[in-house]
This record gives sequence, C-alpha cells and structure tokens, in this order.
Amino acid sequence: MRHIFEQGTDPKAPTLVLFHGTGGTERDLLPLAKRISSGSSVLGVRGNVLENGMPRFFRRLAEGVFDEEDLIFRTKELYDFLGSAADQYGFDRAKLVAVGYSNGANIAGSLLFHYENVFKGAILHHPMVPRRGLTLPDLTGLPVFIGAGTNDPICPPHETEELHKLLGAAGASVSVHWERFGHQLTASEAEAAAAWFRERLAVADERA
Ligand code: MLT
Repeated sequence: MRHIFEQGTDPKAPTLVLFHGTGGTERDLLPLAKRISSGSSVLGVRGNVLENGMPRFFRRLAEGVFDEEDLIFRTKELYDFLGSAADQYGFDRAKLVAVGYSNGANIAGSLLFHYENVFKGAILHHPMVPRRGLTLPDLTGLPVFIGAGTNDPICPPHETEELHKLLGAAGASVSVHWERFGHQLTASEAEAAAAWFRERLAVADERA
C-alpha cells in the first residue's frame, strides 16, 4: 500500500497510524500526528480504492452505503499491511494508535470491529458504524476517542451513539467529544483529541 513512515524521537511512544478522509493522501494527517504525540513514529497510509480519482479505504455503493464485501477485503488487506510494515520499519506492532478522519475513521473502526489487539488506542474523527450484526472482539479497556458533530450530515448523532454503545459493549473505554461544525475536523476537535491522548495514552506509556 502507498504510505509514508517517519521515525519518531521517543522510542517509548506508540506509533500513530494515520487514515485520511475521502480524496486524501497518506500525508494529510501528519500535522495532526505532530500535535497528538510529537515524539511518535508515524505511519501514514493511502487508501487503495479510487472513487472518481479520489483515494478511499474501501468502496461505497452510495453516500453512507458501504460495499460490505469490499470493506471486509480492505480491512484484512490493511491488517496484513500493518504486520508487514512493522517488520519493514521495526516498530512495535503491539503499540499502534489509530488516527482516522471520516472514511479513514471508518476503516480504523472496521479494524477494531474485526480484529483483536490491532490497536492500543484509537482516535476516530467523525466515524460511522462500519458494519452491523457482528460480534466484536474483546476490546476490554481499549481507549477510544470519538470526535462527532451534533449537526454532522454524514454521521448523524444517533449513529455516533450507536457506535459508542457497540464499542462500549465490547469493553472499550470510549470518550465522545461533540462539536457543532458538521462533518468538519476543527482545530478545537484536534486539540481535544491531543489532550485525550496525553491523558489516556502518553502518561500510561511513560509508566510502562
Ligand atoms: C464513507 O464513505 O466512509 C463516509 O461516508 C465518509 C466519507 O464521506 O468518506
């Protein structure tokens, strides 16, 4: 998969895995990663699917209607990629934190829905419910930040609540941060995610 890897300065900090929104690239969330954890190594990934020339992480049949077969295939493809990237760059596969926005948050959510221990934490900006009717893996204690919009037309509040409940029922420790700017990822939401990371993941990591 097309990607960028930047070695961090703090070997104890988790590696951040970045998943862009529709039409983005592996570089889009690099500034966000610096704000979240400046010493972390960063793996930015580009989605393997093109929709009218715009990179995505999986196909969709219409706005908000996912191609489930492709979603499952692409989720596994990414899961395998994370393993091979860990071998290639020498980062700790067990210490990955996902950072995704929109379509990227949806594929990160799908990884959490399908695989156990894929991430040690996740920051999901404006995610939807990736699949329904699944038994989720055991996510006990997994810290998850969800950034959501009270007026997000792509992911309405009831879907945010549904995702919160599904992850929580699997044991994840979910924090939801609400904004009023539709589907946008605002500076204040990014700051809230960074503060959450410092509290939930950076401190825990220093103690490790
Ligand atoms: C998706 O297709 O993943 C969501 O609708 C978000 C987006 O617009 O990319």
